[in-house]
Amino acid sequence: MNSVQQTLSIIKPDAVERNLVEKIKNIFKKNKLIIKESKKIHITKDEAAEFYKVHQSKPFYNDLCAYLSSGPIVVMILEGVNAVFENRKLMGATNPKDADENTIRKLYGISIDKNSVHGSDSGENAKKEIEFFFKN
Ligand code: CDP
Ligand code: MG
Repeated sequence: MNSVQQTLSIIKPDAVERNLVEKIKNIFKKNKLIIKESKKIHITKDEAAEFYKVHQSKPFYNDLCAYLSSGPIVVMILEGVNAVFENRKLMGATNPKDADENTIRKLYGISIDKNSVHGSDSGENAKKEIEFFFKN
């Protein structure tokens, strides 16, 4: 089914720091994902821990939360046909080394932890993640 949906995207500290925000936003726009909302914020480690709660049992959880709260990030609501899937496709694999050519992580990712972007992985999680950053 091709339906218009929304997803949450985050430009992570490594990419904000390297002034890649406009370049990454242009990739979304060129690929028919409309940026409905966008804000630059700096979250606390506790907020990062809440956001990434699904990973709390993983060995990388503590570093991940420390990293996401280490500097400014840009959080966005993207909207378009199959936005969750289309955004994941534009992002590429979690590890930039494994990401396809021309994906955001292949172009800009530094390492598996500093991989430049986050994107919701399902419609249900997209709703929760949008709520987390934009509805309070
Ligand atoms: O971000 P994505 O959905 O592709 O991957 P994930 O499996 O949901 O993991 C969330 C984030 O944790 C990744 O984007 C990485 O930044 C980080 N991670 C890590 O540092 N080391 C791993 N072995 C796996 C993930
Ligand atoms: Mg994920």
